[in-house]
Amino acid sequence: MYPSKLAFLAFACKAILAFPTPATDTASLPLPARTIFQLDDSPPKSWFENIALRRNGDLLVTMLSPNASIYSIQEPLSGSPKASIINIANATGLLGITETAPDVFAVAGGLFGTGIAVPVPGSMGIWEVDFRGPEPTTRLVTKIAEAGILNGVASVPSCPSSAILVADNELSLIWRVDLKTGEYETAAEVPEMKGLSNATVPLGVNGVKTRGEYLYFSNSNLASIFRLPIDKRGVAAKDAKAERVAKLDTGFVDDFVIDEEGKYWGATNSGNTVVVAKRGSGSIVVAGKSTELTVAGDTALGLGRTEADKNIVYVVTGGTVTSPVNGTVSESAKVVAIDRTGFE
Ligand SMILES: *[C@@H]1O[C@H](CO)[C@@H](O)[C@H](O)[C@H]1NC(C)=O
Ligand SMILES: *[C@@H]1O[C@H](CO)[C@@H](O)[C@H](O)[C@H]1NC(C)=O
Ligand SMILES: *[C@@H]1O[C@H](CO)[C@@H](O)[C@H](O)[C@H]1NC(C)=O
Ligand SMILES: *[C@@H]1O[C@H](CO)[C@@H](O)[C@H](O)[C@H]1NC(C)=O
Repeated sequence: MYPSKLAFLAFACKAILAFPTPATDTASLPLPARTIFQLDDSPPKSWFENIALRRNGDLLVTMLSPNASIYSIQEPLSGSPKASIINIANATGLLGITETAPDVFAVAGGLFGTGIAVPVPGSMGIWEVDFRGPEPTTRLVTKIAEAGILNGVASVPSCPSSAILVADNELSLIWRVDLKTGEYETAAEVPEMKGLSNATVPLGVNGVKTRGEYLYFSNSNLASIFRLPIDKRGVAAKDAKAERVAKLDTGFVDDFVIDEEGKYWGATNSGNTVVVAKRGSGSIVVAGKSTELTVAGDTALGLGRTEADKNIVYVVTGGTVTSPVNGTVSESAKVVAIDRTGFE
């Protein structure tokens, strides 16, 4: 175990707005959304990439740029949340994060050069962050020397504390990483994980989630969510076929979540919206707009898991660093809470 640096900072939000009173039965669109936490770097250069929630209600938000911080945000809905920062040694940017055992999380990261999401070859790896002690500790699980860009991370449902699945959006495949031994292998590789070579940002497989016997993944350029059967170890059969479960009416999808009813919530990043699709149907915009900052540059979503925030969907943003709203308006990375009370 390597002791991690822990710095506390009180945080004052730029704009804290109260939620409008939610509609009684069915929510009207867009759903109420408010910024609950925002960095204040100026000019803006910060990029939040992913989010996981702790069972005590704290948010764990990973930073892709400018440094490898995990922002641990306490009392996120209080109006004045406090954040502590956990730094990962030997990395300058972090991506996917998932809980593998109660209060233990796995996170993907690496060394990044000048461009956003352009890693130093051979530097990417998986770290473990353990919150069970008096202070969080971090540990390198393994570097994956052959990896391109590690992105979304999900645990294997039948053995969450021993293995994770990790999307590689450069090699267009999923790695399986053994958390105890650090051994890794290819878990799945299907054509639906490839991006479009003619896209402005060629990007295929991005977010990953696991449910029962399936691995779900988003393909950014196809603006689609697919699923693939996996075995108990988390590995797909050689001839396994991906099934498209949602086609979003957007140009791009970043990470996503699946709610209790099986609806897919997608972050559209430069689309500046959060969209929701039911299985096999199109999508509707529930927050944001191409010309608005509301959820601009949204990279990932997290579902509240305590009684207090079970109706909240948290959204993290890359602060529109690479694609300013209206071509000119950018802001720092932030976390937005969407209230989905009454939304079906
Ligand atoms: C990481 O970046 C953030 C946002 O720019 C900044 O506030 C923070 O001080 C940086 N941390 C370190 C350790 O450089
Ligand atoms: C950092 O890198 C050094 C040298 O490769 C290694 O010994 C150490 O385990 C790494 N620490 C972490 C927390 O990744
Ligand atoms: C990119 O390639 C895809 C698949 O080959 C094709 O459907 C699409 O029209 C192409 N887009 C452009 C802008 O050429
Ligand atoms: C973008 O432009 C539209 C149309 O002029 C305007 O309504 C909107 O407020 C602008 N967005 C921002 C974030 O300035």
